[in-house]
Amino acid sequence: MLEPGSNTDELNAELDRRYGSLIVAGRPYLEVFRECMAVSGTTVAPDKVLDRVERGHRLAVALDGVLSTGADGIAEAGVWRGFSARLMAILVAHRRPGWQGEGLVLIDSFEGLSAPRIEDASPSPDGWVVARHTTNFASGEDVVRQTLSDFPNAAIHAGWIPPVLDTLAERTYCFVHLDTDLFEPTAACLAYFSSRMTPGGCIVDDDYGSDLFPGVRRAWDRFARAAPGRFEVLESGQCLWTAAGGPGARG
Ligand SMILES: C[S@@+](CC[C@H](N)C(=O)[O-])C[C@H]1O[C@@H](n2cnc3c(N)ncnc32)[C@H](O)[C@@H]1O
Repeated sequence: MLEPGSNTDELNAELDRRYGSLIVAGRPYLEVFRECMAVSGTTVAPDKVLDRVERGHRLAVALDGVLSTGADGIAEAGVWRGFSARLMAILVAHRRPGWQGEGLVLIDSFEGLSAPRIEDASPSPDGWVVARHTTNFASGEDVVRQTLSDFPNAAIHAGWIPPVLDTLAERTYCFVHLDTDLFEPTAACLAYFSSRMTPGGCIVDDDYGSDLFPGVRRAWDRFARAAPGRFEVLESGQCLWTAAGGPGARG
C-alpha cells in the first residue's frame, strides 16, 4: 500500500487509533481499504495515507447511505487501477447479496488525464500555471478487470470524457463517484449524470478541495449554483451533491 521504503509503524498506529473501530460492508474498514489498495496495486506516499483513508471512508459512507434505498446504477468516472471502484463494489455486494457488478459503470481514458483547460490554472508569481501530477495515471481496462475480477458484470467504458459519455446506455443512477481531477471531464459528467440521478441519489467528487487542481471546484461551483438539490463540502475536501426529491435532499 505504501511506496517502497516507507516507515510504517507510526502510521499504522495512527490509522488504528483513528479508524480501527470502523466497520464497512460488515468488515473492519482498514481491512477493506488495504485489500482494495493491494488488489488494485495502488500505492500512496506516506504523507498522503491518512487523507486517502479518510476519503475512502467518506466515499463508503455516502454510497452505503443510498444503497439501502435503491437498486439503480452506480458509476465512477476516473477509475485508474480500480481502487475506489473495488471499494464501491464491496459495499454494493454487501447490500445486494449475489451481486456481481450489474449496473456498475466505470469510465476512464486509461491513458491518463486529458488536456487541461484555462479553468484548471492557478495564479502563481510566474503567471497562471496548471499543476502536473507526479503520478502517470495511464493504466488499462485489463488492470481494472483484474481488480474487479469477482465482479465480472461491471461495465468498463474506455474513452475520453466528454465523448465517451454519449456511448453509455440510457439508465438512471443512485450514486456517482467523480475523480478525474480536471474541469472539462467534471463539468461534462455533472451535465450528463445530474439529470439521470434517482431522487435522493448522490454524486461525490474526490477533488473539490484540491488546491492544485482548482478546475474541479470551478466546475462544481457553476453546477451547484443552478442545480436543485443539496450541495455540501466535506471536511475531507470531497464534495457531495444529493439530487432533489429524496429524503436527504431539498430543492
Ligand atoms: C486520480 S485518478 C483516479 C483514481 C481512482 N479513482 C482510484 O481510486 O485510484 C484520475 C483518473 O481520471 C482519468 N481521466 C482524467 N481525465 C479524463 C478524461 N477526460 N476522460 C477519461 N478519463 C480521464 C485518468 O485516466 C485517471 O485514471
